[in-house]
Amino acid sequence: MPLIETKKALRSALSNRAPGSLLGLVPTMGALHDGHLALVRKAVSENDVVVVSIFVNPTQFNNAGDLESYPRDHETDLALLNSVSEQLLVFVPPVAEMYQEGLHAKTYDFGGLEKVMEGAFRPGHFNGVGTVVEMLLRAVAPQRAYFGEKDFQQLQIIKSLVAQLELPITIIGCPIVREADGLALSSRNKRLSEGVRKEAPFIHATLKAVKTQFGTKNASSIEEWVKESFEKHPHLELEYLTIANERTLLPDAKIQDDQKYRAFIAVYADDVRLIDNIALN
Ligand code: PAF
Repeated sequence: MPLIETKKALRSALSNRAPGSLLGLVPTMGALHDGHLALVRKAVSENDVVVVSIFVNPTQFNNAGDLESYPRDHETDLALLNSVSEQLLVFVPPVAEMYQEGLHAKTYDFGGLEKVMEGAFRPGHFNGVGTVVEMLLRAVAPQRAYFGEKDFQQLQIIKSLVAQLELPITIIGCPIVREADGLALSSRNKRLSEGVRKEAPFIHATLKAVKTQFGTKNASSIEEWVKESFEKHPHLELEYLTIANERTLLPDAKIQDDQKYRAFIAVYADDVRLIDNIALN
């Protein structure tokens, strides 16, 4: 499987494609799991050539400790990718290749999508995501790029990025992949202690209960109920539970029949920050 480290080598590998062939991109930060592999499988089934990028992007971490402890396992990642397809082009640029003019993020205006939830609790995070995704989309110039719905806010922001940059790229969101007990797959799950791992499925169980209550109770009493439920779990600290319109990512004063809603949650499982979400209607 060819490993590509520079944009120049990437351009050269891509220039050998048959005319009219379809190109897909799956951007990742490595520490791959079945959620990533589902994106890669979908990309392989829908395109002639697929690039998977593995790049732990420093500018999207608002916490140096989080960047430091982010799991990295290159060898396992490559073996997993190889098990999906031996034809993938794997782009693994060093930081200096991506940030040739210094480690700075651009500033974007995503119309408010970047200000709530993850944006509010992780200042600067979406400028970092926007910067690296713009670089990757420009370097690869795919027809389609694939992202998981676990980071639903990120997905909406990337759709907004592509629209404002007028890039001819379709952004494809793929469903959350879960463990059998409901915990959403995440590279950060590897850092959970055994005891906390046993408690963590409570996050998804709570989202399912929120879905059941949606439509019969109002959002603020559901949110209050969730806060109280988490107080019984000392290892799980609720950061936020928000019921929001999928399009604006803001709560609506009144639920509209023609709009889609989702519940979004962020929880510290001891020192590991986990996020999840569920479609409500
Ligand atoms: O979702 C991720 O893994 C990252 O935020 C992404 C999209 C690869 C950008 O670094």
